Amino acid sequence: MEVFAPGRVNLIGDHTDTTGGLVLPMAIDLGTTISGRAGGDRVVLRSAEEPDPAVVPLDVTEPAAMEPGWARYVAGVVAELRPSAGFDGNVTTTLPVGAGLSSSAALEVAVALALGFEGTALDLAHLTRRAEQQASGVPCGIMDQLASAAGVEGHALLIDCDALTVDPVPVPDGVEVRVVHSGQSRTLAGSAYAERTASLAEAEGVLGPLRLLAVDRPEVALDSAAVADLVAPLTDPVLRRRARHVLTENARVRVFADALRRLDLPALGPLLAASHTSLRDDFEVSTPVLDALVERLVATPGVLGARLTGAGFGGCVVALTEPGALEEGWRVHAGPGAHRLA
Ligand code: GLA
Repeated sequence: MEVFAPGRVNLIGDHTDTTGGLVLPMAIDLGTTISGRAGGDRVVLRSAEEPDPAVVPLDVTEPAAMEPGWARYVAGVVAELRPSAGFDGNVTTTLPVGAGLSSSAALEVAVALALGFEGTALDLAHLTRRAEQQASGVPCGIMDQLASAAGVEGHALLIDCDALTVDPVPVPDGVEVRVVHSGQSRTLAGSAYAERTASLAEAEGVLGPLRLLAVDRPEVALDSAAVADLVAPLTDPVLRRRARHVLTENARVRVFADALRRLDLPALGPLLAASHTSLRDDFEVSTPVLDALVERLVATPGVLGARLTGAGFGGCVVALTEPGALEEGWRVHAGPGAHRLA
């Protein structure tokens, strides 16, 4: 048995999935492969990247307490899937770990397939999202796992995280997608991510569902006076900024996907720039290192635009470029979703 699950890069739409908003990730041609065979009463996986194997009994009860740390993700999947047989195998990955390219989602999705998961890509995403939450304690949205499960070669995925629809959008031939690591690890992401999610729940307690306010009205959400009116009932200026990020980011995803479809490449850069600014100033998940990297990349000839991608607090920047404009980082292609190889 051999399975592959890709990582993902999010082109635009960050911190919108937990409130049922829009995201535009693509599964990439970097990912995680597991090979081995079913049997026994525990899941044993060895990884060339890790000194110690993951050894998980089929009746594991506390995935978050497992050691070594990477075994938690394996254990989260075992706890959600409860396979009838164990597994013995090897994990290899071409993804940088902890860089914002969803290495943990790729591992979870690959483990689920290796352990015999049967069902739709959406079912696989639901199961592995719960596994991630159990393993890490982070109240993550569904974007990463769904992008890994439902990837379409040559396409980004416009995902409505409320309706849970996946609408493939072709990535034009003239556009290269590059991912550049800031060099900053994301060890603080856990608690800050949960705090941001809690702020959005608080804002929705006053305003109602944020997605209903703007997802289908990008013209409203991109008009700063109209957005100021929408968030005015929030008395706390921090909550107002958090809500404003989500409202405007949802609109940018919709407009960006339309521009990609129309091959309107000059429209992409300003939307990426506005997304980064909003994540920096309103959602406050950027860092000076990420800001400097984005600034340097967008000043490079042939770069259409760049922004931090994923949760933030470090990790990677995504840049869209004319062919050959950038040499640094990884040139990634939109690849297929998770699948069995043999
Ligand atoms: C992490 C989470 C996702 C999403 C992004 C930010 O990757 O796992 O659900 O919230 O952050 O867009």
